[in-house]
Amino acid sequence: MSDDRLPQLRKVGRVTQLMVEGRPFLVLGGELGNSSASDPAEFGAMYAKLRRMHLNTILLPVYWDRIEPEEGSYDFSLVQAAIEAAREQDLRIVLLWFGTWKNSMSCYAPGWVKRDTARFERVRVRSGEAQEIVSPLSAAALQADIRAFSELMRWLKDFDGAWQTVLMVQVENEIGMIPEPRDHSESAEAAYAAAVPPALLSPLVRRELGPEVTALWRQAGGQTEGTWGEVFGADARGEEIFTAWQFAVYTEAVAAAGKREYALPLFVNAALIRPGYEPGRYPSGGPLPHLIELWRAAAPSLDMLCPDIYFPNFGEWAGRYVRGENPLFIPEMAPSARAAGNAVYAIGQLGALGVAPFAIETTDKEPLIADCYRLLEGISALILECQQKGTVIALSPQVGFDWNVPDRPERGELAGIVFEATFERSGMDAGPQNTVLPTLGVGRWEAPAGTPCGAAMVLQTAPEEFILLGMGAVVTFSPADGQGRIGIEQAQQGRFDPEGRWHGGRWLNGDETHQGRHIDLRGDHWQAQRVRLYRYS
Ligand code: DGJ
Repeated sequence: MSDDRLPQLRKVGRVTQLMVEGRPFLVLGGELGNSSASDPAEFGAMYAKLRRMHLNTILLPVYWDRIEPEEGSYDFSLVQAAIEAAREQDLRIVLLWFGTWKNSMSCYAPGWVKRDTARFERVRVRSGEAQEIVSPLSAAALQADIRAFSELMRWLKDFDGAWQTVLMVQVENEIGMIPEPRDHSESAEAAYAAAVPPALLSPLVRRELGPEVTALWRQAGGQTEGTWGEVFGADARGEEIFTAWQFAVYTEAVAAAGKREYALPLFVNAALIRPGYEPGRYPSGGPLPHLIELWRAAAPSLDMLCPDIYFPNFGEWAGRYVRGENPLFIPEMAPSARAAGNAVYAIGQLGALGVAPFAIETTDKEPLIADCYRLLEGISALILECQQKGTVIALSPQVGFDWNVPDRPERGELAGIVFEATFERSGMDAGPQNTVLPTLGVGRWEAPAGTPCGAAMVLQTAPEEFILLGMGAVVTFSPADGQGRIGIEQAQQGRFDPEGRWHGGRWLNGDETHQGRHIDLRGDHWQAQRVRLYRYS
């Protein structure tokens, strides 16, 4: 099969989209909990439920320790069962390679890697203590990971190349160094004391590595050669650059080898930074926004760098990944009461090619996500077309890290009209905090009661005609040039069927549009209205 028939990322008009069977595809996804892809007996019922929730794609792990329990002998039966179960439900898959690293640690490395710390060198902290983290300087680990990932991709091409159930593959999971900014193993100490390689220095001096890395370099004296400490500074931030480079070079070697076997789109995901945290306290050197250019320079086989957004300030973090040519995809996000609203914002406003709330199979937000995905499923062809043309916007409350929501309407401009949305705070009881996956104990994923959970998307279908979809929002209009006023000629409620056909229902006017003043998308359900506006003076 020629590469251009494979799933691929392609820049079309204003955005980069995922092409599947030659057509753009919007990933309405969900990521399984870490252990939920380990027992084939669970797949059938679980996938059926996810299909009923109107997902079209499941993100699920491939565990290194399960595919290569003994060195050199591979067993893909678990992956095969996952793919076959997905096909039965007409679902696509994005595989997550839990290889050398999973959330900084190396817990999915097979026993023969874990036990042989002489062959597979471990990260050491400054005091010399070893961690359960394989060193990115371990040549043996790199060779083992390359071999396992290549075998996986070769098998995948053979088993799935014709079906294309699997659309993309994530390489490793949430790479990043903790509890210190860099590795102090023997190999790492030697590398850190050596000269910064030309492959990094050249783009650095050409100012191609982004404002943050460039500023760090200039602060350290702007040297064009020297050791890592000399070029980037010997503090935590300078050390993070060393770490990022080692991780990115390692990941590139794995990704490139896998891509040679089967050229699917590949990406990495990042654990983000809590306010005020320094490298080492957060997983340092991962594919973070301030390191995007460095990662892209070191790892050209990766098609995108993606954020895992569990923090409440979703819009801010997602926006930071719209940087340069990096396509936007959210492989993990908090399955909170804001998940659907955040999905609508990422897709409609930021041009995301898809989203995936985490632990989707156990979320108590199932009805809300299903309700939103049902709407997005029917309208996805229109969304993709409007993304290409730049004729879609989305409005969403810009929640802060502390869940604080600014008391102001959100505004956006499309087709010479300013759309302004205000959001209901009381429509949904978001429930007490920390109830979403109590066993994981990962903190405040849940929106506090009273948080506005909605969002609105506006898609232009004709010069003065729009589809407005949303939940918990009221939308008003004004002319962008300040000339005259904008009124509602017609508003009709309706729905899209799975094939994308519009089925109109009630014509809304009178009280339902506040006598022609606004479009009312309030309530706890996602809904769509076809609206024709007109200008008067
Ligand atoms: C982010 C990781 O990438 C996931 O695998 C999972 O561990 C979640 N955090 C939440 O626990």
